[in-house]
Amino acid sequence: MNLAIDRDLLRSEIEELARISDAEPPAVTRIVFTPADIKARAWLRAKCSETGLAVRRDAIGNVFARWAGTDEAAAAVATGSHIDAIPNAGKYDGVVGVLGGLEAIRALQRSGFRPKRSIELILFTSEEPTRFGIGCLGSRMLCGALTAEAARRLTDSSGQSLEHVRQQAGMNGDLGSVQLDSGRYSAFIELHIEQGPLLERAQVPLGIVESIAAPASYDLIVEGAGGHAGGVLMPGRKDALCAAAEIILTVEQAALASGSSDTVATVGICEVFPGAVNSIPSRVRLTLDLRDTDLPRRDGVFHTIQSKSQQVTDKRGVDLQFRVVNEDAPARCSSIVTEALFRSCNKHNLPVQKMVSRAYHDSLFMSRIAPTGMLFIPCRNGYSHRPDEFASPEDIARGTLILAATLADLARKSSLA
Ligand code: GLV
Ligand code: MN
Ligand code: MN
Repeated sequence: MNLAIDRDLLRSEIEELARISDAEPPAVTRIVFTPADIKARAWLRAKCSETGLAVRRDAIGNVFARWAGTDEAAAAVATGSHIDAIPNAGKYDGVVGVLGGLEAIRALQRSGFRPKRSIELILFTSEEPTRFGIGCLGSRMLCGALTAEAARRLTDSSGQSLEHVRQQAGMNGDLGSVQLDSGRYSAFIELHIEQGPLLERAQVPLGIVESIAAPASYDLIVEGAGGHAGGVLMPGRKDALCAAAEIILTVEQAALASGSSDTVATVGICEVFPGAVNSIPSRVRLTLDLRDTDLPRRDGVFHTIQSKSQQVTDKRGVDLQFRVVNEDAPARCSSIVTEALFRSCNKHNLPVQKMVSRAYHDSLFMSRIAPTGMLFIPCRNGYSHRPDEFASPEDIARGTLILAATLADLARKSSLA
């Protein structure tokens, strides 16, 4: 099979998609169900149709673009990722897996390959948690980890419900119909930038992911007592922001003390109420993002954060509440996919290394309904979630080539065992 990736086409499509954004270039912002996201989705669906794929969309907006195999009854092989982007992000996170997946299919078509199993490209809705506070909305619902009832309760920071905004965006179906059964896909592969520096440092062009770290996310509400910044004297104040500051440091210390560099904890949002220069903060909302490859260790760090934070709030006489947003388990990639990826790399004489994904991905949830694997490519300095995120056209093309070869390998067989 003569597989040739059209690097220039892929690069120009990545640039074109980056222009559908709510941020000044080179930054990209594309929040789920905003006009930019809706426009980008329409653009992608048109590309899929031009490629001759049959396009379906479900009630949460996941898009499935199918290249029918000769055995239509056999479970399909799927690939894909997301195109939503956090505020002030870059061009490559998620996009490489979607446009790379599309180019992998085109390359297979150009080579004359005829798949036995159908090959599907999936665009997942809202991998990023920006708008509704919880990541991987589309893949979470596909595998049943987020029920339709729970999804209907989600609202954004302006109080608009997910139910309302998805319908405004043209998705009117019943959310209860989104979940797929486990036999639907025989394999799922996600191509993604590493979002860390290890491949670049090792000068290895490809990483095969063996496990995906377990992410958890919480809202913390600190309630103190407000008052006049001039009138209330310092002794006896119950300043919610001063308590929150100590809690944030507690988070950092607990993660550093876990004994493993795989434990990471981040307070990324701090909302202060009432937020006036001359008013003592009476309430603060913090978000806590806590991740580890080891679930018991993550739980241990969370308990340490809770008990140390309690000491802070007792000392300061403020109240603290933790609300669980999500507590997801780690995933192990399937040997069916990782071995197929290794075979493709060997066949193309490309060095590869085994990796852990410390970021979460739609693969975390796809692994619950399909044998799943991930292929990483390097990104400059490991930068991601920032405008200077960069992956070279050569690295993207190399990843796409291996993706195409592996899709062909898995789609050519009627039995994957
Ligand atoms: C996904 O973007 C993550 O936060 O890991
Ligand atoms: Mn991301
Ligand atoms: Mn991503």
